[in-house]
This record gives sequence, structure tokens and C-alpha cells, in this order.
Amino acid sequence: MTLALDATLRRVPELLVEVDSAHQVRVHHDRRILEFGPHALSLLDVFYEPTTVGDAIHRLRPRLKGRRAVDELVATLATMVSAGLLTTEPAAGHSELMFPVGGYGQAYMDIAMLQDPIRKSLFIKAIDEVVGPDDVVLDLGTGSGILAVASARAGARRVYAVEPARTGDIASRIVERNGFKDRVTMVRGWSTATELPEKATVLTTDIVGNDCLDMVIWENLQDARRRLLTEDARLIPGSLRSHAYLAHMPEEFRLRHRILDSHIRTWQDRYGIDFTPMLEDDLPRSAGFYERPEHVRNWERLSDPAPLFTVDLRTDVRHFENQVTVPVTTSGVFNTAIVFFEARLGPTTTLSTAPWNGGELSHWYCAGWTFAKDRKVTPGDAITLSYQYQGDGRARVDLVEE
Ligand SMILES: C[S@@+](CC[C@H](N)C(=O)[O-])C[C@H]1O[C@@H](n2cnc3c(N)ncnc32)[C@H](O)[C@@H]1O
Repeated sequence: MTLALDATLRRVPELLVEVDSAHQVRVHHDRRILEFGPHALSLLDVFYEPTTVGDAIHRLRPRLKGRRAVDELVATLATMVSAGLLTTEPAAGHSELMFPVGGYGQAYMDIAMLQDPIRKSLFIKAIDEVVGPDDVVLDLGTGSGILAVASARAGARRVYAVEPARTGDIASRIVERNGFKDRVTMVRGWSTATELPEKATVLTTDIVGNDCLDMVIWENLQDARRRLLTEDARLIPGSLRSHAYLAHMPEEFRLRHRILDSHIRTWQDRYGIDFTPMLEDDLPRSAGFYERPEHVRNWERLSDPAPLFTVDLRTDVRHFENQVTVPVTTSGVFNTAIVFFEARLGPTTTLSTAPWNGGELSHWYCAGWTFAKDRKVTPGDAITLSYQYQGDGRARVDLVEE
């Protein structure tokens, strides 16, 4: 293969890279695993932005010791091009992969999000409340471009729409088709690796997970506040308030989320193998889960919601812990805490993911934690739950035994 020095290449977005202790690099791409020497990392790094072959070699040249290293780098570059890791055209359109790295880029994600009438309409309502003609908007994770278009439509002077997934290409076309190409600038990449020519006065983002912090919104916003936003920038959402209530998860769902005695008996009969260590391992833990709101809203509710924590997205990341004692209001069998949140989007706009607010069309699942043992409770009892945020989107809820 001949590579012209003036050919522009870029790295495809859907890659997973592993490096071992011997500096060997394994790249997972398109259901294959490709192995390279140490030059692979520099090349993937330099071609993160579209770059000519000549420029890339020029930039990497100081790190290369001797002619042999240059030849190895060029050979690795050629292999990466023929394997489709570096391409002359940006990856465009929805992904054909079942699980693109990062979980975004497939048509079904956009369908689910755009079909959710409550979630998107409230974001757009908040944008209409907050964005004005002097504003520069950073839309962090633009996806289909919906919030970028809504911000331009609300009058923003400039919108920077940032998206690493290949759907960024479709978003560009949607922006253009809706007549906002002159005011919306598409930026392909992760916000954390993005520079903007000016600071934004408003941030919009829907990287709000089922368990509000699990898409790493807090950490991403901390970076954006530091580098990409004005000091007094308005954030959509600005804060997240999480609540927990006590519930009974019915047996058919418990069978999906916990290892139970009945599993062990069934598997013993079916396979002739004793899986009891799985049960022993599972017993001391609380198990986090996501379930559809149209199921969860039918589970017996044994308490009112109690505030679990509030996160102001204008403050910095902390690991934190909280405890809440939840009074039982209805007799029943407690085995699960359901956790939902309210996102403050605008001065008069708040979005709640309580299961009774969502339904079949909700893009969000309900988050919850289910415990090993059923416990009979009656009004007058109280259950103490602990919540721990461990950073990087990881959280857990445990029972505090009195
Ligand atoms: C839940 S979708 C929302 C898409 C669209 N804004 C909407 O409201 O329908 C989140 C999008 O954010 C992107 N994303 C996640 N983290 C990001 C980051 N740090 N920088 C840029 N995009 C990010 C994902 O690739 C995904 O397309």
C-alpha cells in the first residue's frame, strides 16, 4: 500500500485499546482484535484529529530513534489504514455494530431518546427559558443534535455541538437541514479533549444516567466549567436531587436480579452441578439494577420518597456518603430501595424520573438496589439506607443494620 504524504487520515471513533506491560497494544475494532507494537498508541493519538500523513510523521519524528523506528512507524501506519482503524473519510451515520464502544451511535439509541416525549420536551422548554441572543451554548454530547438545534432556534449567537460518536455526522446534516448551519459548529470528539475558540455562557447536556451520576456528568461538567464555560455560565441541568423509597420487588423480578435458593435447586436438577458458592457470594451484597418504570410503578410501595442527596453541578466532584432513615408507611415485605431523581433544568422546569411519571416511552430505566433478604415491615418501623458515590459514575446503596 502506498500512502501519500498529503493524504488526510483520522482515527475511527469506535475503538477499544488495551496496552500490556510489554507495551504491546491490542485494538478491538469491528469484532476483531488487532495487535501492534508501541507506535500504535502515538498514531492513534496523533490521528485523533484529521491530520496529513506528512504532518503526523513530522510530529512524531522527534520521538523516533533511528531509521528503523521510522520504518516501523510507517509499517504500523499502513497496517492501521488497511485494517480500517485510520480512514480518509470520517465515520458517518448510525453504527452497524451491536455494541459500539461507549454505547452510542446506534439508531435505536436515537429512537429511544427522541420517542421520549417528556424528557426531550422539558429540555427544550428549559432551553427556551434560559437561552437568549447573546448566548454561546456548549451542547455536550449532542447525539442527534436536538438540543443544539433547540438552542439555535431559541436565538443563541453560537452553539458548539460536541459529539464523539459517528452520529455527529448525522447531527451536522440535521443542523444544516433545519437552517442553523451558520450558527451551530459541530465538534467531533469528547468534551474533555475539546478546545473552543470562546467560552460558552450556557451548557446543555443530557448525559444524565438512570442513576443520575452514572454517565459521569459531574466529572465531565467539572472539566467543562474549568476550560470551556464562563464563570457564571448557566447549566441545563443545574442540579440533581436524588430520592429513595422502600418497595417490594416481586419474585419474577427478584429471579432476574438476585441469586436465590430456587435458582440453585433448579440448576442442580437441570445440570447436576452445585452452584451454591454463587449464592454464598451474592448473599452479603446489595444488588444494583435498572428496570423499566412501567414495571416498577406497579411494585408495592412501602414508604414515601426520602431525599438521598443533592448535587449542585456547579460544584466540584467529591466522593461522598450519606445516610437516610426512611419511615415505613404501609405494611408489606421490604426487599428493595428504588432511587429516582429530579433534574433542575430551568427556572420553572424540573424533570422527575419517579416511576409514576414515566411509562413505556420513558427513555430512562428506574435505578434501584435490591437486598438479599425479605423483611416484613409495618408503619412505625424505619429502614436506614446508606448511599455512597465513589466517583467516575460508580455508586452503591446499602442497608444499615441497627
Ligand atoms: C443521552 S445522549 C443525548 C443525546 C442528545 N443530546 C439528546 O438530548 O438526545 C448522550 C450523548 O452524549 C455523548 N457523550 C457522552 N459523554 C460525552 C462527552 N464527555 N463529550 C461529548 N459527548 C459525550 C454520547 O456519545 C451520546 O451521544
